[in-house]
Order: sequence, then C-alpha cells, then structure tokens
Amino acid sequence: MTLRILGIVGSPRKGGNTEILTEHLLKGAAEMGAETELVSLSDLNLNYCRGCHHCLETGVCAISDDVESLKEKLLRADGIVLASSTQAQTISGNMKVFIDRLLLHVFKQSLQGKYVVSVSVGGFYGMDKVTKYLNDTAWAMGANMAEKTIKTFGKIDILVNNAAIMLKRPTKTHVMQPSDQITVEEWDSVMSFLPERPWFSTTLPQRQRL
Ligand SMILES: Cc1cc2nc3c(=O)[nH]c(=O)nc-3n(C[C@H](O)[C@H](O)[C@H](O)COP(=O)(O)O)c2cc1C
Repeated sequence: MTLRILGIVGSPRKGGNTEILTEHLLKGAAEMGAETELVSLSDLNLNYCRGCHHCLETGVCAISDDVESLKEKLLRADGIVLASSTQAQTISGNMKVFIDRLLLHVFKQSLQGKYVVSVSVGGFYGMDKVTKYLNDTAWAMGANMAEKTIKTFGKIDILVNNAAIMLKRPTKTHVMQPSDQITVEEWDSVMSFLPERPWFSTTLPQRQRL
C-alpha cells in the first residue's frame, strides 16, 4: 500500500526555509515509496475562524475558502508534516489561522491512526515551543492520543469521555454548560453529527488497556 504524506507549510514566505526543509522531508518519504504533496499556506485563500460554531452544529464550516479542500487532503493523508516558521516564539500566523479552522476535527478526533511529525524553523529562540505546539495540536485531534497517555501515565484506567462542556441548545447563544447538566436531547443533537466519536473513545482505549 502506498502511503500518502501531506506536508503543510506555515510561513509567510513562499519558498522560504520552512518550505525548503519540508520539501527535503517529503523527498525522503517519496524515495521510500510514499506519495507526497506539499501545500504552502501562503498560497491559499485562508480566512479566520469566526467562532460561530456552525461546524459543530452542522459538520460543515460556514466559510468557503481554500481551507476546505486542504481539510479533505488532511483527512485522506496517512501521514502529515506540520511545518512552521518560528514567529514571535510561536507558530506562524497562517498556521494558527489554519489550526483554528480545524476545531470540528478536535471533536471528531480526525487524526486518529495518522502519523504526524512537526517541523520548526527559526533564527534564534522558540523553535522548541513551535514543535511542541504543533505536536499538541496533532494530539488534540487524536493523533496517537492513547499512545501519549500511556507514555505519560503508564497505563489507562478509565478514559473520561466528553467530560468537558457542550453547547447549550436550542438558543445557539454559545452559552456553555457542564456535560453532567445536559439533557438527553442536547446529547443526541451533538452526537447526531459525531456518530463515530463514541466508537473511537470506546474501542481504542479498550485495545490499549494494560
Ligand atoms: C515576524 C517574525 C518574527 C520572528 N520571530 C522569531 C522568533 O521568535 N524566534 C526565532 O528563532 N526566529 C524568529 N524569526 C525568524 C524566522 O523564524 C526565520 O527567519 C525562519 O527561517 C523563517 O522561515 P521562512 O524562511 O520559512 O519564512 C522571526 C521572523 C519574523 C519575520
């Protein structure tokens, strides 16, 4: 099976150091037989997340721009390179805008089973913070989540599922409430567009349990 490796380059500079480094990385993967693609965020029409929660309510982003087709590539990829230049000791602005647009995929744990590596480029300080940020981003979307938990805590006893907050409905005023106070209708409403989430949350820890 040919692995598909997608490199996403966050840097304001087209053809800059981040892109060059990512190209080298993808070249190595291609030499090993992978199908590779590099997408530079500086080439895309990329708009800020509006925080409207439309994606959480419908499964579809309210904004129609180049991010939508990049998300499809992300979901099709077996491996992802998240690369960013270091700017003001953090990730590039365009990488942050892109990551904000992936909110639904935190809830859907869409990177489950995918390999993700992070690359940072910098001149003097903060490159380690960039790779940590990118790694944490991948982890938040499900990449190697169980593996990281086991590495950190030694084993999984109980995975607390959805122990966060959910949108209060039907007001759509973005009021949040604790998950133990939601009604069954609210639960069903959220779960109706995230049908696979309980499956991931249940089966993966079962397989990883020590
Ligand atoms: C606005 C701005 C802020 C930067 N901040 C940092 C920084 O905090 N730490 C650092 O090591 N390099 C910093 N740099 C340097 C870039 O990370 C470095 O030049 C890098 O090679 C740029 O990658 P690129 O060629 O892909 O754009 C900054 C550059 C810019 C333009």
